Amino acid sequence: MPLHWLFPTPVLQEDLQPDAATAAAMEAFLAQLDRTVYQHERFSSRNNLTGDVLAELGMDQLHRLGEFQWLNRQLAHYAGLFLEKLIGPDHGLELHIQKAWSVICPSQGGELDAHTHPNAQLSAVFYVRMEPDNPTGQLEFQAPETYFSHSMTLPYAAAAVSGGVFAAQTHRLLIFPSDLRHRVTPYEGRSSRYSVSYDLALTTPPGAGREMQVPHPLDWVPLSLV
Ligand SMILES: [Fe+2]
Repeated sequence: MPLHWLFPTPVLQEDLQPDAATAAAMEAFLAQLDRTVYQHERFSSRNNLTGDVLAELGMDQLHRLGEFQWLNRQLAHYAGLFLEKLIGPDHGLELHIQKAWSVICPSQGGELDAHTHPNAQLSAVFYVRMEPDNPTGQLEFQAPETYFSHSMTLPYAAAAVSGGVFAAQTHRLLIFPSDLRHRVTPYEGRSSRYSVSYDLALTTPPGAGREMQVPHPLDWVPLSLV
């Protein structure tokens, strides 16, 4: 009796090849962050540094920094391909970077609990530094809760489609729907694990609104200005 898993979720995986200077600049930036943020008393006992604490420090806009311009361009290319594959070449939609932040898992162990990014439509992660042949600190995707919540009590783990775990490898890019629940499995290594996450918003072009689509931010009028 076969079980057919419906509604598969697309995840784009591409192993990028930054030149040595670009890779070194990104890694140096995150190493500096690693050294300085952990010196704050508030953060010294955490087993990770993620978007929630880094936003407080004004560090959720990494895409505006010179070190990440190459990565921005790679993301534009592959996120564009992702949309073309999913909804066709004439989708006429625009992607915007809302924010980009680092995730640092220290060498003595770190993990991220399961979560989604409800503020975005597409999210991405790029691994800046990961020890070779280290099987820990993987990205695990989990089936959406609503598949089963009304009639069954299958736990997430049992519902996960096989292949839902992606190895964190240096310079690997993953792009996935932001409402797809995911977590980082416990990391252990000799050095910190560095990655950069992006949240993207999908809108129509300026002045070309469509029903059921988010209009371009240039079409918005802040109520504070009326
Ligand atoms: Fe996440």
